[in-house]
Amino acid sequence: MTPAAAPAGAKGLGAAGKVPRHVAIIMDGNGRWAQQRGLPRAAGHKAGAEAVRRALQAAADQGVEVLTLYAFSSENWRRSDEEISDLTALMRFYLERELKTLEKERVKLKLIGDHSAFGAELVERLDRAIERTSSNTRLTLVIALNYGSRAEIASAARRLAQRAVDSEIEPAAIDEAAIAAELQTNDLPELDLLIRTSGEVRLSNFLLWQAAYAELLFLDVLWPDFDEAAFAGALQTYAARNRRFGGR
Ligand code: FPP
Repeated sequence: MTPAAAPAGAKGLGAAGKVPRHVAIIMDGNGRWAQQRGLPRAAGHKAGAEAVRRALQAAADQGVEVLTLYAFSSENWRRSDEEISDLTALMRFYLERELKTLEKERVKLKLIGDHSAFGAELVERLDRAIERTSSNTRLTLVIALNYGSRAEIASAARRLAQRAVDSEIEPAAIDEAAIAAELQTNDLPELDLLIRTSGEVRLSNFLLWQAAYAELLFLDVLWPDFDEAAFAGALQTYAARNRRFGGR
């Protein structure tokens, strides 16, 4: 199988048969995992956080450059106060426990979305973790927190419109590259592989622009059961796909 040449503008897209440079995951199914065991939803999220550790390690071991995880969508505020507070506490705990691992494994932490909406303590911890890991280069872990893709695109459009109003750019100069440059992912390689666990088959407002040429993989496994073997299997599926980028 010969990998198809990527079109102009698709620089950085991994070729078929190779390890994807950028993998994103919609970590779905924590609630159902807990329900199946007669446990509270919080127990599912806790087990989900352990799956995050495993996925991070597997991504680093396999040579993936960027792992983007959907931890909290802008729609998740509709959940109960109790669940939001459980998730926030879990992220605080995870950060405290894992910061050393991120440093040891040379993982750089980056956030997309608007994390300022969370409590001051979590915001401070997140900002500190970002700063402490900023020079790491082995793997970038991107956590999408209070993230929504349509809001991200609308915000990019607003900034470009303002620059046009201020005569800094011509409207005709607003092309795909100009929009991509305004997205929060502008410093990351193109998304190669997008995985969703739990059997649901939708994108739920996650990386809509970035997923334009990504391979999509919907797995029946619930997120807390996603392990190193599942990650390796996903990479094998990706390697067997023939990416054509609109060509033949
Ligand atoms: C979806 O499962 C999962 C979430 C909304 C939260 C994801 C959070 C974690 C995996 C834990 C902590 C994260 C980090 C980065 C340490 P769901 O609750 O929608 O499951 P259901 O669809 O079965 O109810």
